[in-house]
Amino acid sequence: MALTSRPRGTNDIIPGEIELWHELEEKIRQVCHAYGYKELRTPMFEHTELFQRGIGDTTDIVEKEMYTFVDRGKRSLTLRPEGTAPLVRAYIENNLGSGALPIKLFYYGPMFRYERPQAGRYRQFVQFGFEALGSSDPLLDVEAIALPLELYRSCGLSGFEVELNSIGCAECRTGYRNALTAYFEPQAAKLCGSCQGRLHRNPLRLLDCKVESCQAVAKDAPLITEYLCSDCADHFSQVQKYLDKLDIRYTLNPRLVRGLDYYTRTVFEVTSSELGSQNAIGAGGRYDGLVQELGGKETPAVGFAVGVDRLVLALRNQGKLQPSISGPAVYLVHFGGETKEKAAEIAHALRGRGLWVELDLGDRSIKAQMKAANRLNSQYVLVIGEEELSQNQAVLRNMSDGQEESVPLDELEPLTKIVGACAK
Ligand code: HAM
Repeated sequence: MALTSRPRGTNDIIPGEIELWHELEEKIRQVCHAYGYKELRTPMFEHTELFQRGIGDTTDIVEKEMYTFVDRGKRSLTLRPEGTAPLVRAYIENNLGSGALPIKLFYYGPMFRYERPQAGRYRQFVQFGFEALGSSDPLLDVEAIALPLELYRSCGLSGFEVELNSIGCAECRTGYRNALTAYFEPQAAKLCGSCQGRLHRNPLRLLDCKVESCQAVAKDAPLITEYLCSDCADHFSQVQKYLDKLDIRYTLNPRLVRGLDYYTRTVFEVTSSELGSQNAIGAGGRYDGLVQELGGKETPAVGFAVGVDRLVLALRNQGKLQPSISGPAVYLVHFGGETKEKAAEIAHALRGRGLWVELDLGDRSIKAQMKAANRLNSQYVLVIGEEELSQNQAVLRNMSDGQEESVPLDELEPLTKIVGACAK
């Protein structure tokens, strides 16, 4: 059983499905190019402390969801649960802030969280994330919202919504924390064990606890928007002004706080009506204190991560992104013996020119070979018969219109030209 089933919460992406992922990756690269983001790849695991410090040790991710292990050198390492803290670590370590700012970087790859699996929620999932470091301009926050919307739109996705909030800076948060503690303290008995523990250490975390009884208490909690300092309030209103100018629709959600501790000021989430309870297809925000928290210079930053598995689900539910199924440029049909040897030679030469070529391996009947060529959606079939071979010729059949022509086998240019012209 264990040998034939994958671990819970993981997925295989098989041929027929992977094409959608490839198309998405292509679109991701296109949209990143348009916005000036360059790819950065970080390791799949990092020192555990990076996430404890970066994401916050009272968050659900750090308290309950990390895949942490001790390696043979007795170091505590963690499979990355997200990409922002690793990217900031790489930014500092590689001194990427020494050039022109802001620097814009993106990443694409698997993340790991020990969550309760369900549709759209996995233990290994792929994120495409992007981060811009070195500017506090509210227009950059708006670009971080516009970029994923452009991606969703270019994939043909409809029915998505942007939720927006500001959670202020450390200064606004002092008053807000006190207000939250005062609100939750008398109701502490109704909170889950984790939230009781977080009540004094980080009361903001009580607002995104997934336990129902905690959510019932949190629903009337004071709102951060009432505690924003004038700089944060101004930043937030400029974000909204630019969004309006660019005609980007959003809904203000004063209860949106996000589940990671590094956020400051603008936070946003995009939800899709195509998904059930796991409807966030991406989320992000500003994190002006993280670079410094991780040992770098004070550097404002903003970013976003798209949940690619959820995007694929939403697109599939809408019947979008049907991959174009391509087949071999040519299928070589032979009669065994010398004709098979010639087929092997031709296949070798054409593959060396980058063409997808298939040939029969089991010495099957011509009928079976033609059937196989059809099943694979081959664009051409080249029939290498014994008599034709003696004259260094073979018959090439165009499978879309049935037209046949004779092609020489002693030089491959004419054949390459014809089958290469419609190879996808
Ligand atoms: P996050 O909200 O934890 O933010 O994750 C971003 C997106 O990743 C979610 O909206 C969702 O689409 C997807 N996602 C998260 N967990 C799972 C899961 N278990 N299964 C499938 N998809 C999942 C972050 O990770 C931040 N680093 C985003 C960010 C970048 N903020 C600033 N820059």
